[in-house]
Amino acid sequence: MQQNSPTATIHALASWWEEMGVAVDHGEIQALLKAASPAASPSATSDQAATKPATPAKRRRRAGAKSVAEWVAEATALAAAADSAEALKRAVEGFDGSPLKPLCEKTVVFDGVPGAPVMVIGEGPGGQEDRTGLPFVGKAGQLLDKMLAAISLDRKTNTFITNVNYWRPPGNRNPEADELAVCRPFVDRLIDLTQPKIMLAMGGVAAKTLLDTKTGIMRLRGNETVFTTPGGTSVPVTPMFHPAYLLRRGADKSRAWRDLLLAQTRLEEMGISL
Ligand code: URA
Repeated sequence: MQQNSPTATIHALASWWEEMGVAVDHGEIQALLKAASPAASPSATSDQAATKPATPAKRRRRAGAKSVAEWVAEATALAAAADSAEALKRAVEGFDGSPLKPLCEKTVVFDGVPGAPVMVIGEGPGGQEDRTGLPFVGKAGQLLDKMLAAISLDRKTNTFITNVNYWRPPGNRNPEADELAVCRPFVDRLIDLTQPKIMLAMGGVAAKTLLDTKTGIMRLRGNETVFTTPGGTSVPVTPMFHPAYLLRRGADKSRAWRDLLLAQTRLEEMGISL
């Protein structure tokens, strides 16, 4: 049997990902090619042409595959049929509409207490989360737990933790619009089912996705916005810096602290004791 060279295999893998609708991380592919063959330098134009990242608009769809709109419709029906957070989790796990899913070990839906007064919503799983199936368990998650503990919140008693995307994007890139779109009906339904009193949106991706705005986290944070799901649940959302950002920019921790106090005050005003 003929053996493909490692570089041919990497090219084939990148093409297959593109065929699956995944935006290939060009930098990662170049690093793999370089590791597989010292001759394959990052400046080799043929390699670049073969692994050029696909923009969502350019993604090719396999014959017979569903469109994003069809997957969104399927997600909406599955989400509507779920009558509890656990049922919704099972529905997400059985859903095949995200192009990211075949690249992942686990589907990461939520952790914590369904029905808790506080819902934390992040961007999506990273490596540790993909391995364990739980949100916010890596380094950023550990910082999140410390931040929550500072205002008497924790995932064992009074906090529910989820994301706007349930599958890890390759190389931890930001999730793309269609990847977020197919998760959205589940996100909205989870809010309807768990009825949080307040939400903390961690980072720009989560805040912009949830609030459907292009405004960046620098301007969104520190201000509460009432968000209403299509199902009619209204919740005040406080956008905050993502803990992964705070790990890199420790100087902004004081601003994150102010945002946490804002959330705590809001809970007190609502008569919720933690
Ligand atoms: N970052 C997120 O936004 N969510 C996770 O679950 C983990 C890291």
